Amino acid sequence: MKSPQQHPEPPTPVITRRDFFGLAWKGLGILAAVEVLGMIISFIFSGKNKNSAPPKQLLEAGPVDSFAKNSVCAFMGGRFYLARQQDGGFIALSLRCTHLGCSINWEENKKRFICPCHSSAFDISGEVLNPPASRALDYYPVLIEKGVVKVDIGTLKERKTTGKDQFTYA
Ligand code: FES
Repeated sequence: MKSPQQHPEPPTPVITRRDFFGLAWKGLGILAAVEVLGMIISFIFSGKNKNSAPPKQLLEAGPVDSFAKNSVCAFMGGRFYLARQQDGGFIALSLRCTHLGCSINWEENKKRFICPCHSSAFDISGEVLNPPASRALDYYPVLIEKGVVKVDIGTLKERKTTGKDQFTYA
């Protein structure tokens, strides 16, 4: 009777130091590629939010009826003057002069804003009355919700001159 044939044991795979480092480098290369891909994807998707409106930072100024027509109320914490025009429209004017940025003051007796630095003057709508300032005061958007005046102090808007679309009506 024939004895069963003996197969030789397969050789144990031997990993040389060179193979080990080769594998390690490949692994690191794959990790780096995944990280770069993640950065590219996050960059692409972060660009999608650029066109969406920035979040509002609303400051409640008070009920519409608490502001008389042709009057100005200072909100120094919000860094603006809430000016109600003769026709009832609201505008929240930045208190920074558009010349070099000094803080303007409201002169009630003359119904105008005056800058203490170089005497620029602005009317109640923020329009320039007297240079050296060459453009109207910047303003914050005003919203009126359920009879309450709110100012978006997170969105400062620059302008050259005043326009009807810059005022908010109840
Ligand atoms: S900073 Fe206001 S007039 Fe110059």
